[in-house]
Amino acid sequence: MDRWIEEAERWILHTYDRYPIVVVRARGTRVWDDSGREYIDFVAGIAVCNLGHCHPRVVEAIRQQAEELLHISNLYYTVPQVELARRLCEHSFAEKVFFCNSGAEANEAAIKLARKYAKMRWGEGRYEIITMRGSFHGRTLATLTATGQEKVQRGFDPLMPGFRYCPFDDLEAVASAIDEHTCAVMVEPIQGEGGVRVPSDGYLRELKEVCEERGVLLIYDEVQTGMGRTGRLFAYEHWGAEPHIMTLAKALGGGLPIGAMVTTDEVAQGFSPGDHASTFGGNPVSCRAACAVLDELTEGGILENCRRVGDYIMAGLKDLASRDSRIQEVRGKGLMIGVELEGVSAKAVAMKCLEGGVLINAIGDRVLRMVPPLVVTEAEGDKLLEVLEGALKVL
Ligand SMILES: Cc1ncc(COP(=O)(O)O)c(C=O)c1O
Repeated sequence: MDRWIEEAERWILHTYDRYPIVVVRARGTRVWDDSGREYIDFVAGIAVCNLGHCHPRVVEAIRQQAEELLHISNLYYTVPQVELARRLCEHSFAEKVFFCNSGAEANEAAIKLARKYAKMRWGEGRYEIITMRGSFHGRTLATLTATGQEKVQRGFDPLMPGFRYCPFDDLEAVASAIDEHTCAVMVEPIQGEGGVRVPSDGYLRELKEVCEERGVLLIYDEVQTGMGRTGRLFAYEHWGAEPHIMTLAKALGGGLPIGAMVTTDEVAQGFSPGDHASTFGGNPVSCRAACAVLDELTEGGILENCRRVGDYIMAGLKDLASRDSRIQEVRGKGLMIGVELEGVSAKAVAMKCLEGGVLINAIGDRVLRMVPPLVVTEAEGDKLLEVLEGALKVL
């Protein structure tokens, strides 16, 4: 066995079921292991490296900022935070931003803000948040409670009070679950870890209407769908239904850890100084990297490439499905693609693809997920299809 894998097993807590390669370098859509083998990456750090690995604009922004200021407390103002907050607001519905370090933390901030805002606006008693079955919102206690998947929650009870679950893409269920205790509805525009599930076309717009009518906040978790992944900067743009709060992380920092919770001026009033904080939140280096990411996504043709190559790969996968009945469904938007399998283990398929030089990821035992860098080409899509077909042939 590789020496580094042996040492990892010896020294690192066993919370991940890892693929057996040691990655030492990555550029664009390519990754190399410690034996020098090259792979095409359809995982992108799980929807993180949207511009491709080590994008020169991001690397340069990090290098320049690292020479100026690595860290200073949120006791002081810093320019990179302002630059990033302004960009996020200019490109979305948002008017105020809170910075943190991860998706779970961004969702924690959203949950706290929704509760606090509800108290400020309507007094005691409105604290409950409705989330969806099959959702994923993180691994902290509040966010794993928000997550509508028992396997994520098992063994960690007692869970946080104040959450309630509805089926995804079921408007009636949410409308009848909202009561005098509800302060917010929280939803991923497309469920990621739940198996890449795209809701029906009118869902988010109608959900917004129900929330407005009933006076509850709408929170979008765009940790995975945000930053161009679905072919728009934010997935909600596909359906034109703006939320009151949105959370971001993953691809925001181009590979550096950063999360953000963004909201309107009205809802932002729920937080006062001292209500929420994070030592590293809005770190200057991560913020500079994120500014470079946003500039590249909004100036270049990356979103267009994402939509075009995404459609191309989906069409190829559907064609493969027509020839192999074990592919039950191909679904997704842009370059967030899921393939549901039956009668063959998704993990076994992903392992075979790795052997064939293509990294893809299995979600649970039935779904393959493809979330490559948004700069991936049609030729690389062809390679994915060829390797996947080869893997299915031998399984
Ligand atoms: C939709 C969504 N929300 C939240 C998270 C948690 O993000 P993090 O792992 O950065 O805490 C994830 C991670 O996969 C996610 O996909």
